[in-house]
Parts: sequence; C-alpha cells; structure tokens
Amino acid sequence: MPKLEFAKSSPTAAKVDVVAVFATKRDRTAVPAADAVALGDALDIDLGAELDAVRFEGDLGQVARIPTRRRAKAHVLLVVGLGEESPDTETLRKAAGLAARNALKNGTLALVIPGDLVADATDNERARAITEGAGLGAYAYTTYRTKSNDLPSLEGIELLAGEGVGAKEATAGVQAGAVVVEATSLARDLVNTPPQDKRPPALADRIRDLADGTGIKVTVLDEGDLAKGGFGGILGVGQGSSAPPRLVELTHSPARASGHVTLVGKGITFDSGGLSLKPPTAMTTMKSDMGGAAAVVATLLAADRLGLRTKITGLVALAENMPSGTAIRVSDVLTHRGGSTVEVLNTDAEGRLVLADALAYGAESKPDALIDIATLTGAQVVALGPKISGLMGTDDGLVAALLSAAKQAGEGLWQLPLPVEYREHLRSEIADLKNIGKPRQAGTIVAALFLKEFTDGVPWAHLDIAGPAFTEEGDDFYTGKGATGAPVRTLVRYLEARQA
Ligand code: BES
Ligand code: ZN
Ligand code: ZN
Repeated sequence: MPKLEFAKSSPTAAKVDVVAVFATKRDRTAVPAADAVALGDALDIDLGAELDAVRFEGDLGQVARIPTRRRAKAHVLLVVGLGEESPDTETLRKAAGLAARNALKNGTLALVIPGDLVADATDNERARAITEGAGLGAYAYTTYRTKSNDLPSLEGIELLAGEGVGAKEATAGVQAGAVVVEATSLARDLVNTPPQDKRPPALADRIRDLADGTGIKVTVLDEGDLAKGGFGGILGVGQGSSAPPRLVELTHSPARASGHVTLVGKGITFDSGGLSLKPPTAMTTMKSDMGGAAAVVATLLAADRLGLRTKITGLVALAENMPSGTAIRVSDVLTHRGGSTVEVLNTDAEGRLVLADALAYGAESKPDALIDIATLTGAQVVALGPKISGLMGTDDGLVAALLSAAKQAGEGLWQLPLPVEYREHLRSEIADLKNIGKPRQAGTIVAALFLKEFTDGVPWAHLDIAGPAFTEEGDDFYTGKGATGAPVRTLVRYLEARQA
C-alpha cells in the first residue's frame, strides 16, 4: 500500500511526479476547480485551451494529462472529470481512484483537495473521500507475480489542501481515510489469496499474526475446542476437508467501553459445494467465500487503529467445503451450538451452517447488536447484482444505521424483508430445520430467515455480500478486478457513527 499523507506544500512545490486536480462539466465544457485554475496560472498554462485541445469536457471517467514543462516539480498535471451534476463525495472518491490508476506507473502522486466542489461536505469528508479513492485505486495484488516489470505501483500519495481547505480538518480526513484504505486492502488481500494458502488453520494463524502488536486479542478454537463447545455446524461443514475448521474470536475491548457490537463473518476458505458439488464455472470465484470473515478481521483492526470506544467482538467461522469420503452427506443431521438440529439437504448451502453456530455463540453474550456478513446466496447476485449487498434484520434502528453508513461510505446496500410466512420453507420432516428452502423462491430471504433462528432475540442484521465481495470485471475507478473489500467501509462508518 502506498504511503498516504496530508502535506502542506503547494501544488507547484510538491515533490511528486504527478499532480491531480479536478474539474466539473457545464454546457459541454470543462470547468476546472479554483485550484486547478490557480495552478494553471502559476505554471503559465492556458488550461482552458489545453483541455479543449484534447476534447476534455469534464465527464466523470475522463482524465487529461498536461505536461508541466518543468515549471513545477511534477512532470504531469492530471485534470480529472467529476461530471455535470454537482458532485457528491462518492464522485470525488471515484475520480480520485481514476487519478491513481492513471498515475500508477509514475511513482508518486499528489491530489489537490478542492475547497469549492461538493457543496454540502466538510473538508474532512472531502479529504477522506479523495484519500479512500486514491488509496484504493492504487491497490494491486502482486504476491504471486514473479516478473517485476509488470508490477505497477504508486510509492506515495500526498493530499494537498486546495483554496479554503482547513489543514486540521483535512489532516483528520486523510488519516481516517488511510485507515480505511489499509483495512479494505487487507480484506482484498485475504480474499485474493489462493485457497491453498488460506486453509482454516493457516488463515487462523495469519489472523493471529495480523493482530500481533495491536490492541486486538485473538482466541482460536480448534477442532477439539469446537467439539467440546457443541459447534456441530462448523465441524460438519469442515469434516470433508483434510484441513480442520477453526473459529477465531477477535476482541477490541477499550477501557470504559460504551456498548458492545459483535460481528460474525462467513469464512469458507474454498466452497466446492461439497458432495452437492458446484459446476466448474460456479467454482472459479469461490476462494472469495471467506469475504465476510475478511471484512470482519479488517474492521476490527481498523477499529483498533481508530481507537473506537465501542467494545467489538469479531467471530469468524473458518472451514473448507470439500467433497470426500469424510464429507457430510445429503440428509445428515447436524446439532448446532445451543442444541438445535438441522437436516442438510444440500451441502452447498454450507454458509448458513457455520454461521448458525457462530451467531448462537455470539448471541450468548447479549451484545447490543449482532451483525453477520456473508457471501451467502447466488440469489443475492440475481436480485441485486455485483454492486449492491442485501440487508435484512430484526431491528429497525440497526438496519437504518447500516443503510446510512453504506450511503456515507459509497457502498451499495438495500434492505429486503423477512416475512414470517416464508419460515415454513425451512420445515424439515425429521429435524428442527432443513438448510434449504424451495427452488428459485426468495433464496436470499430464506437463508436469512434460517440465520434468524440462531440469534436468540438479540438485535441482529445480516449482510449478504455474494455479488459485491468479488468482481471479475472491475471498473476504472477505485475497484479493480478481484476482491473488493466490501463491506469494510460500511462497517467502519457504522462503528464510527455509533460513538459520534
Ligand atoms: N458461496 C455460495 C454463494 C455464492 C454464490 C457466493 C455466488 C458468491 C457468488 C453459497 O454457499 C451457495 O452455494 N449457496 C447456494 C445455496 C443453495 C444451495 C440453497 C446458492 O445460492 O446457490
Ligand atoms: Zn455453497
Ligand atoms: Zn458458500
């Protein structure tokens, strides 16, 4: 991850390779921000003429590269479009991501935080959005590449205060943004990691290492502990793999904490489907089936770095879902933490089985809020697509807080109902529940209704991130191909807002 810092230098003096400024669009013509105009003047560049010459109109997605001809330390001035409508912070985040992508091969980048754009945002918000966008746009997963010449990377990103931008507020925004970038990049790294290198025991060790030297305490339950604790769901899903399952508990416990939130993450390190084997094309993205767990780990580390005053427990249920002679069979009955029984009629509906144990365990300490995050259903992808996660919950205040956090963070989130009428889809002939509903009927909702059974009346919300966790397409802004880090930004915002 490049260094992300607020710097007090002027755009002409900044010791970077590229300086980026912003422009909006009016009447098919670019309208550069006040700082861009001032910078053009200082460099003796007729910005309007230069932008016209390259047909830059200021659309979101457009960038113009203008050489500074040695009049500034930077060789290139990047003008980045924000589009016609009055830009919001998400537009700024996107444009900053595009700027970083365009500067990737150049070494270092400075972005000027515009004081005159994004009308209703604070300087802190402007600075934070640009920091997040640029930092995430610069992300690249290079661990498994051996040819160093095709590794683009930005070494450093500086954020400069534009006209009228307060240094103190901007510094705070950059610092918070940098923590979010670090956490989101960590979640991306974990999800991008090939499944052979994150089997449950190895991933548990890695989580322990990540927390080392932080304020986060980590406890790992191995297969023996899980058996003693009655975690039949996690054990059942993991029993087909030669690598045993784990339940990792992370705790952020500040002195004089106000309130307690528990985050639960689905951590299927590879989902082959088990004996209900997935077809080959459905398996190609299934290393991302621990995206919920990755988000929980990253959010706890961010909470520690931000010094949040809420007590936060993270529970990540790690198992590898494999077919084998020891795998769970279709029709097997599992006994979950707390004693309820479930008939497994499809071994590919495994996420709910591991989450059932983790939710039941999490509910035992009666937190103020219990939130699970999971790449749970293909039906979520059908209903809401790759950019919008599904949200369901039993507490209106919690649901509203998460929706508002997602909006601030620039992540898609949409509430779906939890109709009691569909509970009967889960009725088993022989056990308390079965793990699947009816084919092609409200799969996302029915999966959530299954989870609800294990929450014991604790205020609960469920985020289904099956689509948003991983993208095979990527965009030109701040989300490239592969893991996205969703919904880390939403979770961090939610936790920050709780203590505001
Ligand atoms: N991990 C998958 C869900 C998924 C699908 C995540 C696509 C990301 C992209 C989950 O374990 C699964 O296979 N769910 C089944 C449940 C069904 C058998 C009831 C599904 O959605 O098809
Ligand atoms: Zn599955
Ligand atoms: Zn799965």
